[in-house]
Amino acid sequence: MNPVIMPPIVDDQATVLREIVSSRRALLGSARINKGMKSIAILSGKGGVGKSSLAVNLGLAMADMGLRVTILDADLGLANVDILFGVMPKFNIGHVLRGDKELTDIVYKVGDMLSIIPGGAGIRELSDIDDQRQAWIINRLSSLENETDILILDTCAGLHKNVLSFAIASDLTLLLTTPEPTAIRDSYGVLKSLFQMSGSAVNASIVVNMVANEREAVIAGERIITTAERFLNVKIPYFGCVVWDTAMRDAVKRRRPLLLHDGNCISAPYFRELAHKIAEFREGSGARTP
Ligand SMILES: Nc1ncnc2c1ncn2[C@@H]1O[C@H](COP(=O)(O)OP(=O)(O)OP(=O)(O)O)[C@@H](O)[C@H]1O
Ligand SMILES: [Mg+2]
Repeated sequence: MNPVIMPPIVDDQATVLREIVSSRRALLGSARINKGMKSIAILSGKGGVGKSSLAVNLGLAMADMGLRVTILDADLGLANVDILFGVMPKFNIGHVLRGDKELTDIVYKVGDMLSIIPGGAGIRELSDIDDQRQAWIINRLSSLENETDILILDTCAGLHKNVLSFAIASDLTLLLTTPEPTAIRDSYGVLKSLFQMSGSAVNASIVVNMVANEREAVIAGERIITTAERFLNVKIPYFGCVVWDTAMRDAVKRRRPLLLHDGNCISAPYFRELAHKIAEFREGSGARTP
C-alpha cells in the first residue's frame, strides 16, 4: 500500500479555497482528456428532502445505462448510503483521513457497475473536517477516474462549508428541494452561499422531489429560479423531478434501494429520466461515451 501523505497545514482560508479550485481544474482537465469522470454533487438546504435516496437510485439508473458509477457518501460522520444498500463495509472515509487506507482501498462494490465510498456513521471528527483535509480528499478523488464515469456526492443538508466546497469542486450541482415553502427558501439560501463563496462559478440545477406531478415541480423550481435571477442575477436551470412514491419508505425499511426493490414503481421513470439527462450532460462536456 502506498503511504498516505497529508499536505502541510495551511491556515489561510483563501489558500485552501484556491487549492480546492485548482484541484477541481486538475480533475476537469484530466477528466476531459482521459476517462471523462464527471462529479455530481447533491445538495439541499433543508434536511430529509431525499438527497441520499436520489443519490442511490440515480446511481442505479445510471449503472443500468452502462455507466460506471461511484457514490461518495459525503455526509461525513452521519453517513447512511451503506444502510440504503443493506451493506456493512468494514472501512470508511475515516480510515483514509487517518492515513490507514487509500481512497481506492475503501471503494465497496454494490453492483457490477456501481460502488460506494462509505462515509462513516456517528464519527464526530468526520462531521467537521478542516478545510485542509477536505481539499486533500477532493484532490484524492481524481484517483477514482480509471474506474468511474460518474461520481455522485451525497452531502449533508445545510450551509456547512464542507458541503459548499464539495459543490464547488463538482462538475454539476443538483440542488434538491421539495415543493414545501420551507425547503424552497432553504434551497435559495444554499444557492446564495454557493455564489458568495465561489464567485458564481457553480454549475447548479434544480431538482424537485416528492411532487404530485411535473407541473408542481416546475412551479416550485420557478420560485427558486426567479429569486436567484432577481437577487443573484444568475439563471439557474430546472433539471427535473421525482414524484412522491409510497414504495420508497418500504424499500428503505427493507434496506434495498427502491429501483432494486421495485423497478416498476411510479418514481422509476423519473429517476431514469434524470439519469439520461446526466449522461447527456457528461457527453455534452466533451467526455467519451460509454
Ligand atoms: N420521492 C419520494 N417519495 C416518498 N418518500 C421519499 C421520496 N424521496 C425520499 N423519500 C423519503 O424521505 C425520507 C428522507 O430521505 P433521505 O434520507 O433520502 O433524505 P436526505 O435529504 O438524504 O436526508 P438528510 O438531510 O438527513 O441526509 C426517507 O424516509 C425516504 O424514504
Ligand atoms: Mg442523506
